Amino acid sequence: CRVLGLPTGSTPVALYKEAIAGVRRGELDFSAVHTFNLDEYLGLPPEHPQSYRRFMAENLFNHVNIKAENIDFLSGLPAGIAAECARYEKAIQALGGIDLQILGIGRDGHIGFNEPGTSLASRTHEATLTQETIADNQRFFGAGEEVPRWSLTMGVGTILDAREILLLATGASKAEAVAAMIEGPVSSLCTASALQLHAKVTIIIDAAAAAR
Ligand code: PGA
Repeated sequence: CRVLGLPTGSTPVALYKEAIAGVRRGELDFSAVHTFNLDEYLGLPPEHPQSYRRFMAENLFNHVNIKAENIDFLSGLPAGIAAECARYEKAIQALGGIDLQILGIGRDGHIGFNEPGTSLASRTHEATLTQETIADNQRFFGAGEEVPRWSLTMGVGTILDAREILLLATGASKAEAVAAMIEGPVSSLCTASALQLHAKVTIIIDAAAAAR
């Protein structure tokens, strides 16, 4: 796998720990791997402790042999939003597309920051976080520190273009969203349900997330 699409959040941390261990054991090699992350908060510089760029540095990039120039990220402080979104789409295309897109899922069924109501054909775009997502993400921020209201995110259409998709979900809080994703109607009200349209998706869930 040469081009990876990567998520942030609590769910992938164990996977990233395993990837780091794999590199240390000499079983994994990131020297020819390119990465694109799903999303970034608008308004946060890359070194901000809560930026997703910083999260990825601390949880994966700083501990594996990936080349700095092979890491692409949506800017939290773009000069122009439309231009930054277009740049990202072109950069993904220029590398031949994403081979494996890894995803988490929000309690409201979001993938990336594609909240309920987002077009299932959407490309990389500016997105408004729902109150539920802001509340869920508050735990990463200090008391009195505000979660950004806006982000840049790959669109649902961007995600569906990946050759293969792996979605991870754990815990009872994800059970409703997992059921809607797998057995509900394909609907923009649960953007993860769009994965039903993709030919090569693997979903790994624990018993609590599978309860519904
Ligand atoms: P989590 O986030 O892994 O922190 O639960 C998942 C998501 O919102 O996509």
